[in-house]
Amino acid sequence: MKARKITESVSLLGAVDWDRRFFDALIPIPDGTSYNSYLIKGSEKIALLDTVEPAFIETLLSQLNDIPSIDYVISHHAEQDHSGSLPQIMEKYPHARLLTSIKGKGMLMDLMPLQEDRIQTVQDGETISLGDKTLEFIYTPWVHWPETMVTYLREEKILFACDFFGSHLATSDLYATDESRVYGAARLYYAQIMMPFRGPIQKNLEKIALYQTSFIAPSHGPVYNRPEMILSAYREWASDKVMNIVILPYVSMHGSVKKMVDHLVGALAEKGVTVHQFDLTTADLGRLASTLVDAATLVIGTSVVLNAPHPHVFHAAHLVNILRPKLKYAAVIGSFGWGGKAIEDPSVFLPNLKIERLPSVLCRGIPHEDDFKALDTLAATIASKHAELGLK
Ligand code: FEO
Repeated sequence: MKARKITESVSLLGAVDWDRRFFDALIPIPDGTSYNSYLIKGSEKIALLDTVEPAFIETLLSQLNDIPSIDYVISHHAEQDHSGSLPQIMEKYPHARLLTSIKGKGMLMDLMPLQEDRIQTVQDGETISLGDKTLEFIYTPWVHWPETMVTYLREEKILFACDFFGSHLATSDLYATDESRVYGAARLYYAQIMMPFRGPIQKNLEKIALYQTSFIAPSHGPVYNRPEMILSAYREWASDKVMNIVILPYVSMHGSVKKMVDHLVGALAEKGVTVHQFDLTTADLGRLASTLVDAATLVIGTSVVLNAPHPHVFHAAHLVNILRPKLKYAAVIGSFGWGGKAIEDPSVFLPNLKIERLPSVLCRGIPHEDDFKALDTLAATIASKHAELGLK
């Protein structure tokens, strides 16, 4: 795709990666992604903000064909999907200075060959002038690495946010015009990348709320020409508020756990609690992550394999643990052949989370009447705990 103008002096460059299906070799990204770079032409100087995944360097270089000189290359974030093409860009523009945060400099030097004397660190709040345009650098640590910063173009009220507010969405749209689709992609992205850093995100949201924005220009997905959509979504996702939702990932080897899951889901539904259940042998872990953004309770369903939870449960629980959702409660339901002690405590799976453990329901072999009654009690406990939080 060619460079596209956002305003007379600001263009979107970069590449749309229609075919990428995993990020960080971890979670599916069903709608691809993009690596956005931005060019700002001031009356005296030109700045390039971020680069692209190295596999797409030719696309970026072709978009820069008619740009003979760049004064500043700004690196908001050292992860290679934005920084990986810096060496080629710095080689193409031998007079350019590379501007980054103090922590960013060390990380970039660790990750790629760059000339140290061409890197200039910028402080939080520092500005540079491009003539008639002013760039202000704002440190936004932990969105989602420690060195991350954003840039505010004062005269045009554009916030260049890099990963902050991004979405893994390959689209030919310049702007987030299909808001419901972008919202879903941005939520999935938030769940995968930002959710573990909810505290820093809350602080960074307060910090950037001091700036009026006409556009938010992230480094993944389309540009927000109505920034309030994504700002309000982030305020909600990063808030302490949970919803009347149970997430139920499970593995059932011989059908007993599935019977328990079906019963519990029915009992919860009768009490007005929304449940998202995931069969972990086929589940999309991205969707699981996305539903965790505002759920109040996790119930893990597992068969016992050689006196331990099923390995799929370990994998999913580890993912939940590292994503640090704002869950309040957790329980285990499961079926065992000769011993179930090893699976009854959900906090063993989730040491990072401050959860209240609810009574687990474990049965020997197939579930019987008293097991279904115990599941009814668990459903009543969950509904009551949710009601105490004011959830409807
Ligand atoms: Fe899009 Fe953290 O890289």
